[in-house]
Amino acid sequence: MSPRKIIIDTDPGQDDAVAILLALGSPDEIDLLGITTVAGNVPLALTQKNARITCEVADRPEVKVFAGCDAPLERALVTAEHVHGGTGLDGPDLFEPTMPLQDQHGVDFIIDTLRAEPAGTVTLCPLGPLTNIGAAFRKAPDVIDRVQEIVLMGGAYFEVGNITPAAEFNIYVDPEAAQEVLASGVRVTMMPLDVTHKALTSRARVQAFRDLGSRVGSFTAEMLDFFERFDVEKYGSEGGPLHDPCVIAYLIRPELFSGRHINVEVETSSALTLGMTVADWWGVTDRPANALFIGEVDADGFFALLTERLGRL
Ligand code: RIB
Ligand code: CA
Repeated sequence: MSPRKIIIDTDPGQDDAVAILLALGSPDEIDLLGITTVAGNVPLALTQKNARITCEVADRPEVKVFAGCDAPLERALVTAEHVHGGTGLDGPDLFEPTMPLQDQHGVDFIIDTLRAEPAGTVTLCPLGPLTNIGAAFRKAPDVIDRVQEIVLMGGAYFEVGNITPAAEFNIYVDPEAAQEVLASGVRVTMMPLDVTHKALTSRARVQAFRDLGSRVGSFTAEMLDFFERFDVEKYGSEGGPLHDPCVIAYLIRPELFSGRHINVEVETSSALTLGMTVADWWGVTDRPANALFIGEVDADGFFALLTERLGRL
């Protein structure tokens, strides 16, 4: 089977970086057309830099990295340095990347790529706020029907929120973009906190990355040693959730995951519940199903895949 053509849209973020590394370590399954970056965990100037750092750590300076939107569609930016640190990639020693940032705006790259590739052959993989995707759909509605699928990290229902009591961070930062993507008619698969909180690091799992004995393995272990402290302190868990790599792992081994095709809507007006993903898990409304809402993961299988693929870099 030919590799799946994808665009990763991302706000690195340690977990974003691991997702990028998983994609780069899986060329038989993933044809990474480009990485578009967005403001989210940290401002755009840092997310675009961190995406390039990640590619250089994997010795892949030829990957096309683009800067996209520096603020949500209709709101002020909210960031998450309290989770990811001031650089967005705290943990390992960082460096100035030398690979180029592409001149083209990330939103235009998404639009041009969807127009250039055969319809239905490109999957969009948003790992941060959905601003770039929402902006592309607003600027060029003709590309909406050309998207093969959107597999995103975002939302929460039974697991409730992580940035507010009601909302998950990616959706909270740009709820208008998220609602427009969910209402677009594109086939959507969501990796909410309900599943990502079951993909937890542990001392043994982080040590397995360190034991790879490679630059990628050490870089990953040092990122996760920093990244996991927030969730350990907040939830009392042993480790931190590898949110974003769930998106890429799903493309490679979907059988590791399970969920339900349901209706999901986003709260865009209430101050109390802004950004909440209202998931009709029990089908109590007649709202049409618009997303595969993933709730379960084989965590051992997920980490075995991750370690094996990062070991190839
Ligand atoms: O809520 C978790 C999500 O927010 C992840 O994508 C993390 O990287 C942050 O962007
Ligand atoms: Ca992210």
